[in-house]
Amino acid sequence: MRRQLFSCILLICILSACSGLPTGQQPATPQATTVQKAPHATPTHKGPKTLRDLADARHIHIGAAVNLDALQHDHDYSRVLSDEFNAVTPETAMKFDALQPQPGDYTFQQADAFVNYAHQHGMVPRGHTLVWYSALPPWLQNGSYSRDQLMYILKDYITKVVTHYKGQINVWDVVNEAVDDDTGQLSDSIWLRGIGPDYIDMAFRWAHEANPQAQLFYNDYGTEWSSKKFDGVYSLLQGLIQRGVPINGVGMQMHMHTQFYPDNATVLQNMQRFADLGLKIDITEMDVLTSETKVDMPTTLKIQADIYGTVVKDCLQIKVCQSIVFWGFTDRYTWVHSDLHRDSDQPLIFDKDYRHKPAYDAIVQALKTP
Ligand code: GLA
Repeated sequence: MRRQLFSCILLICILSACSGLPTGQQPATPQATTVQKAPHATPTHKGPKTLRDLADARHIHIGAAVNLDALQHDHDYSRVLSDEFNAVTPETAMKFDALQPQPGDYTFQQADAFVNYAHQHGMVPRGHTLVWYSALPPWLQNGSYSRDQLMYILKDYITKVVTHYKGQINVWDVVNEAVDDDTGQLSDSIWLRGIGPDYIDMAFRWAHEANPQAQLFYNDYGTEWSSKKFDGVYSLLQGLIQRGVPINGVGMQMHMHTQFYPDNATVLQNMQRFADLGLKIDITEMDVLTSETKVDMPTTLKIQADIYGTVVKDCLQIKVCQSIVFWGFTDRYTWVHSDLHRDSDQPLIFDKDYRHKPAYDAIVQALKTP
């Protein structure tokens, strides 16, 4: 998600005088206790009802994006991940710069380690992401290529990567974040500039050729708002379907914030409109940032919990939404610290010491709600 999103969301919020997403619940009265002293103050262990148990019982996927470095060096991280989740997405290990750092030189070791971990623990791995404007290696970003050369590079990449994981990865984010926030038109990228708007059709067709069994998704942020962004993504997807492009679903990333979030009626309405196109909907990158909060931390964490719980309930309400993935799971490791440099943010559902936060409990409640 680009940083501009935050200013964009703020603007949308001001323009639409945003109202609360969690309905019927008031923020908790500020309390003297902090999350450190909450009832779940002991490190978590696999109990009778983990998120994973609850998700398995409902035949849905509940997942987290995986930081490979943490997975390989932090035993608690790996244990909690496999106890609590039945699906995983690689944070960076399957991006273009990781898989093809030099022209023609594919390096699958880290991505293979991720897929092996998933399979060893009976988890469903998601392929993320084949075509994006970002995370490109310097040779590609700074190179000068003709349209035919870029088409060759993209086709070769999609074909090699999807084929490499055929039989192991059955769901792919094929195109990521191709729509401009403000205009709803296709946003600038080397692919749009070098190939033209049909790079998106091509990407889906090449992925389908490489693995006709795979579920292919378009993935983006900001589609939970009523906005030019939603309209742009909607008409992009509508066009793909009309042209017979093999697309199965839309990933709604759901990077959200306790200080400004959309009305829940809008979230549900947007999900329904995607569903009415005949697409599956996956929640692919959910987190709820706290660092711009204007209220105390216990209240902030209660608002955060309500947002997480409400989105999970929304997904359960829409039949074609069967996968909810968070962008990480512990505040110990989050892109909000490493990429956005908001060091005090607490966007995830476990705290830095792997203790359940109120958000965790809200998700448990949502998963238990018939
Ligand atoms: C985007 C991308 C993800 C990840 C997140 C946050 O939403 O789709 O791969 O990079 O930003 O870092």
